[in-house]
Amino acid sequence: MKSIELPREWWKDAVVYQIYTRSFLDSNGDGIGDFGGVIAQLDYLQRLGVDVIWLSPFCDSPNDDNGYDISDYRRIHPEFGDLEQFVIMASEAHRRGIKIMMDLVMNHTSDEHPWFVESRSSRDNPKRDWYIWRDPAPGGGKPNNWDSYFGGAAWEWDEQTGQYYLHTFSTKQPDLNWANPAVRQEMHRIAEFWIAHGVNAFRLDAVHHIGKPVGLPDYTDYKHEREFRLYKNLPETHAYLQEMHDQIFAPHNVFTVGETGGTTPGSSRKYVDRDRGELNMIHHFEQLFLPNPGNAADIQRNMQRWFKALSRRGWDAQFFSNHDLPRQVSAFGNDRELRGKSAAAIATVLLTAWGTPFIYQGEEIGMTNFPFAEMDDFRDRHGLSWYQRDLAHGEDPELAWARMLQENRDNSRTPMQWSEARHAGFTAGEPWIPVNPNHVSVNVAAQESDSDSTLSWYRRLIALRRQHRVLRRGSFRILRRTASRDVVCFVRRLSGKPQAAGEVRRVLVLVNWTGSQAEARLPRRIAGASRRRFSCAAVNYRYRDAGRSLSAEGRKTVLRPYEARVYLEEPKKI
Ligand code: GLC
Ligand code: CA
Repeated sequence: MKSIELPREWWKDAVVYQIYTRSFLDSNGDGIGDFGGVIAQLDYLQRLGVDVIWLSPFCDSPNDDNGYDISDYRRIHPEFGDLEQFVIMASEAHRRGIKIMMDLVMNHTSDEHPWFVESRSSRDNPKRDWYIWRDPAPGGGKPNNWDSYFGGAAWEWDEQTGQYYLHTFSTKQPDLNWANPAVRQEMHRIAEFWIAHGVNAFRLDAVHHIGKPVGLPDYTDYKHEREFRLYKNLPETHAYLQEMHDQIFAPHNVFTVGETGGTTPGSSRKYVDRDRGELNMIHHFEQLFLPNPGNAADIQRNMQRWFKALSRRGWDAQFFSNHDLPRQVSAFGNDRELRGKSAAAIATVLLTAWGTPFIYQGEEIGMTNFPFAEMDDFRDRHGLSWYQRDLAHGEDPELAWARMLQENRDNSRTPMQWSEARHAGFTAGEPWIPVNPNHVSVNVAAQESDSDSTLSWYRRLIALRRQHRVLRRGSFRILRRTASRDVVCFVRRLSGKPQAAGEVRRVLVLVNWTGSQAEARLPRRIAGASRRRFSCAAVNYRYRDAGRSLSAEGRKTVLRPYEARVYLEEPKKI
């Protein structure tokens, strides 16, 4: 496949859209989304204005964890299509200026991968050392006290060879041994294979776990099983990423984003500092796990912290949802009577803040969590394991259920809502997971031609971002006098020489992060004497007197529930 030439640091200007293929669009009626469905919607994605599509894992897999357990890295899962169709999809995407991001799972394989089948066949099999095998502890029992993310110990006993293997995730996801150079070499070859078939970017799954600590020591400050997460972001991981950067990522100019839970602004710098040569950006999760996600003060302070820590020599990603998380409008907004307004407010922060934005499929129409009623509705067994663990720990069943409803991973995995038709137009057959009943009102078709819809708002803001370099490359600063517990307010600003005549140098973003009215004091330079210098380029409410400049309201302005405004500074006249 002909490779496409991309400018240096092209990812700084990109907007990424994540496709969970099995829930996107089914083209052959088997109830499972596929590449045919993606190809059919490339025009839709182009109109939305996204630059990169991140496809959740599409390689062959027994689907213990929906493709995050790979059994053949060079074969497409037949549910999705085949290699030929992948190449067609990639070139059709490229033709529309859309790049392909592959979700590469390098920390573990499926236990059904031939490497593991060989590895477990005998202690002296050449592949034995491709995974992490250990003898029982001296007194018997597990080699150490680590636990897995999906519940239970991180060690599984293998009867035949009398040793345990390590699995950070499910028992069907044995961890690869990255200390073995042959494993690393093979992973490099796999990345090259996909680059040769049209991949331009990688999302590296759970990559903070690839390096393991020497000697695999016990926890000493063991509190509960989730402390397993202390074993991540180790120096070994950084060394493996530097090697892969030098040999693969840099020479091919691919864009890389690592999934690295548990990093602080300080520790993240190691991954994204351009002089260290590892990754372009990472997904940390701090913005999602703030003590009070409804609080604008926390959100913006957090963004400021990350900007300060990373912007000098690195870059960041912005996101509020993905295939493991609740729907963002249900988590941060109001998914009932203020669904459209709050979806737009969240989108405004996502698309105008500093860093590369990641949109998860369906967020652009404001899809919501699913009204789960019974156990049979769930598909993700691993999400269920957290609920079972809560119960085992004596949690009040009602509280555990409420948490399960909010946190289970199926909320974001229900099918994309294309229309009000049966199964939301996702499939002509029976969908693999139930469709949200609200598709009759929340769907793409209904929003396509409605200029007030969430979809139109996403299109507008993405276009604005593309049009104005300041929204992509400008610095980020909270306006402390305007920002509050209720209102997000920041300025993006370009420094250095203008790159074009009439370039906008400053943008002010104002978002009411609550479902009630909020007052904001606009800075003097926007609403004061020189008010003409800023004009409002986007607002998610209609104004009675549309001709009037918003800034004419004066310094004190009232923001309606979830109102979002983007002001551009008028360029200086030359
Ligand atoms: C990542 C993925 C998640 C998966 C896990 C194991 O966290 O996002 O879906 O279950 O890794 O691969
Ligand atoms: Ca299908």
